[in-house]
Amino acid sequence: MTDQRPITTTDAGAPVASDEHSLTVGAGGPNLLQDTYLLEKLAHFVRERVPDRVYHVKGGGAFGYFEVTQDVTPWTKAAFLNKVGKRTPVLARLSTVAGEEGYADTDRDVRGFAVKFYTEEGNYDMVGNNTPVFFVRDPMKFPDFIHSQERMPDSGLRSNNAQWDFWTLSPESAHQVTVLMSDRGTPRTWRHMNGYSSDTYMWQNAAGERFWVKYHFKTEQGIQNMTDAEAKAMRAEDLDFHRRDLRDSILRREHPAWRVEMQIMPVADAAGYRFNPFDITKVWPHRDYPTIPIGRMVLNRNPENFFAEIVQAAFDVANMVPGIGPSPDRMVLGRMFAYGDSNRYRTGPNYAQLPVNRPLNEAHNYNKDGPMRYHHNGNQAVYAPNSYGGPAGDPRRFADPSWTVEGAEIMRAAYEAHPEDDDFIQPGRLYRDVMTPADRDHLVTNIAAHLGTDVERFIQERAVRDYWAKVDPDLGARVAEQIGLAAMSR
Ligand code: NDP
Ligand code: HEM
Repeated sequence: MTDQRPITTTDAGAPVASDEHSLTVGAGGPNLLQDTYLLEKLAHFVRERVPDRVYHVKGGGAFGYFEVTQDVTPWTKAAFLNKVGKRTPVLARLSTVAGEEGYADTDRDVRGFAVKFYTEEGNYDMVGNNTPVFFVRDPMKFPDFIHSQERMPDSGLRSNNAQWDFWTLSPESAHQVTVLMSDRGTPRTWRHMNGYSSDTYMWQNAAGERFWVKYHFKTEQGIQNMTDAEAKAMRAEDLDFHRRDLRDSILRREHPAWRVEMQIMPVADAAGYRFNPFDITKVWPHRDYPTIPIGRMVLNRNPENFFAEIVQAAFDVANMVPGIGPSPDRMVLGRMFAYGDSNRYRTGPNYAQLPVNRPLNEAHNYNKDGPMRYHHNGNQAVYAPNSYGGPAGDPRRFADPSWTVEGAEIMRAAYEAHPEDDDFIQPGRLYRDVMTPADRDHLVTNIAAHLGTDVERFIQERAVRDYWAKVDPDLGARVAEQIGLAAMSR
């Protein structure tokens, strides 16, 4: 057994004498500077961490495939979607949002749902969440939103007060906070939740026709949630419950699967729609745009090395392929900057060359050098245009996806108003028409537990008067009663 082991080497491959004893002057003497193997070992050790993602830090993931189950060529020319039965390898990373690496998986939070499709025309990243909407609709407010969820500068503690202060001063958050405070804010496992693009993207077919689309990944395991009490109990039992569950289910060969369904809106519908379809705080009602099943995602392989393949996985909203593009959804446009920037910061400018991030096809362009550059194209010309056969773009085949903006002035303003751009209509429908009586009871107690703890009275009053009572008067009254604001309760 021992004889078959490889010899330890330095990173440069030279064999070393021992992994147990450092080099000393006699058995009791001092260590020597010439013990470069020890120096290399310690120096590498102190550099083991890379900066965390700025949020969505705690996560897990697995590899698998996506299979096309319906002809979608009327809507997109994306090569990986061009044939029923076609399979594309994927990596999915599921995560919590607010907590750090050691945080409890089951705490109330939105869950990230990021999927990297390794397609023949480059990587396509669908970076969504387990909720169909989001807290804010303009990227300008995003860092402020995240700051309100994080630890406070003075105490180092997370603050319910800050969260409710931000939410109640940002009424567009009401829909997302309703979902977050429902039992969908505590999914039983990552396998038992849906994924949504939430944002709106563009699909474009071979004839150049454009469509606005939203992605829905519907769990085949069925939606299952924990109650607030179950989630809190699991915090004490297993901080890594979701990460462990995904890994164990794949080890048991119970491969989690999701049906992928699309909502597809012809471009011409958008301007006259009763609310702004690019506003991420709204869903497109199913009766207007029913979901169309297009494929199936299966996760069937655990990472071999968590750091190399999950921590260093770099998802980027800007990774799109021909046939898929952005939309006038401001959040998408803001996100198209932030992810690549974060990845360059975390893992360096050549992060896309890491095995987990590199595309199946060869990348060819004029980016050069930088730390940890691995891939190169020999002596290919390093400037364009050139006379030496370097790569060239093709504006005819790969024109940037686009849309028309007419006669508009540059300004800072809210989205143009549509008749039903109201922040409270959709969460009100969710509360009244979709939730069961038990869902509503849990929503009330979950809100009361959170809003009732360490939140200043004037913010509690605002949350009842200007937020929950506007979602639904009955909901406002029930929350008021449970947090002891008797005068506001009916
Ligand atoms: P529908 O009655 O057609 O759709 C309601 C949808 O809500 C369901 O299909 C299901 O979608 C989801 N849902 C079911 N139970 C719950 C729950 N307890 N908490 C949260 N979501 C639940 O109506 P509309 O399409 O007009 O939507 C009405 C409301 O439903 C929306 O305002 C929104 O809050 C919510 N919703 C709508 C979605 C959409 O894309 N239209 C998606 C998810 C929620 P799913 O299978 O995707 O979970
Ligand atoms: C991660 C920015 C909105 C889902 C991240 C990261 C950044 C970022 C910088 C870390 C990326 C990394 O280092 O790997 C932003 C900005 C937003 C925004 C600026 C708004 C303008 C959203 C929305 C969603 C979302 C609306 C969901 C629909 C995610 C997910 C991750 C993530 C799932 C984790 C990806 C992974 O698993 O690596 N975001 N984000 N974000 N974001 Fe956002």
